[in-house]
Amino acid sequence: MDFELCRHFAYKQRVPEPTTAALNAATRYCAVLGHPIRHSASPAMQNAGIQALGLNWRYLAYDVHPDQLRAAIAGAKAMKFIGLNLTVPHKLLAVEMMDALDVSAQIWGAVNTVRFEARDTTGAWLPVGAFSGEVPDELRAVGYNTDADAIAYSVEADLQLPLAGASVLLLGAGGAGRTAALKLAAAGVAQLFLVNRTVSKAEAVAEEIWKRYPAAAVTVGYPNQPVDLVLNATSAGLKADDPLPFAPDQFALSRAKAVYDMIYHPTETPLLRAAKAAGCKTANGLGMLLHQGAAALQIWSGQPAPLETMHTALRHNVYGS
Ligand code: ATR
Repeated sequence: MDFELCRHFAYKQRVPEPTTAALNAATRYCAVLGHPIRHSASPAMQNAGIQALGLNWRYLAYDVHPDQLRAAIAGAKAMKFIGLNLTVPHKLLAVEMMDALDVSAQIWGAVNTVRFEARDTTGAWLPVGAFSGEVPDELRAVGYNTDADAIAYSVEADLQLPLAGASVLLLGAGGAGRTAALKLAAAGVAQLFLVNRTVSKAEAVAEEIWKRYPAAAVTVGYPNQPVDLVLNATSAGLKADDPLPFAPDQFALSRAKAVYDMIYHPTETPLLRAAKAAGCKTANGLGMLLHQGAAALQIWSGQPAPLETMHTALRHNVYGS
């Protein structure tokens, strides 16, 4: 999978006129599994993308308890699904349930995209989506991770901020914070400051970065200097009365050029509001959601994802506009 290539082409391609293929016996399925799943925007975004590509596929959403994840994946495989997306709380659990792992899932230690594959007549594994007729019965599940690339891509594209050489204050050291921290180190940021409410978790992430990228300049704590980017990977801001995800007496937002909040609902978190007031460039996490989904559709279809169409559907679903 070449995500860079996908994005390059996706911006240049002409988006085809959407046509809704009739639901019939040849219709193939993809789905997102999560617990809970009710508010997922992925079906709206992915079905718009599928339709724009003219595929006779549908994308569904299932509430699957973690205890049933293995059975659900096996069921989708038995029914020759195209693939799956996995969201909270399945991404780590699924690693052990794959028949093979793409390098992206190996690097990030989590699976958010599953591609089912079958052997062609030469014995080579091909995506189920590449078979135009009958799909052989023996399938394998290959795990991918499109989240980490999506973080970096969205930050760079939405804020026009190259990560290589940037100084970054990262807030949060949970699942999203860990992935973001490792991706920022991999992207070659010049300096990375890690802050988390529970300091020991930020220290554990710093240790992991040093093991993988011994030359990385990582500090646990607030910077004494201005930074190019503040990236919020905490869940503080999801609710209107949440506190800011950092201590304002330790760091002034006027010292940051740009602020990215991984939260996309509400559109403007208290952090983004404060950042705008301080004169920072800002972006919320909708772009991350878009790019992880676009990469998944490309992995399943082998075609560049229709980004504009997916973005419009996503915005409409999440913000109603
Ligand atoms: P996710 O998978 O979305 O990252 P998570 O692993 O539960 O979810 O991590 C949530 C993150 O938000 C953590 O960094 C958490 O800080 P702690 O590790 O100290 O729990 C952070 N977080 C949640 N509520 C917060 C708050 N009110 N203020 C600051 N940080 C908060």
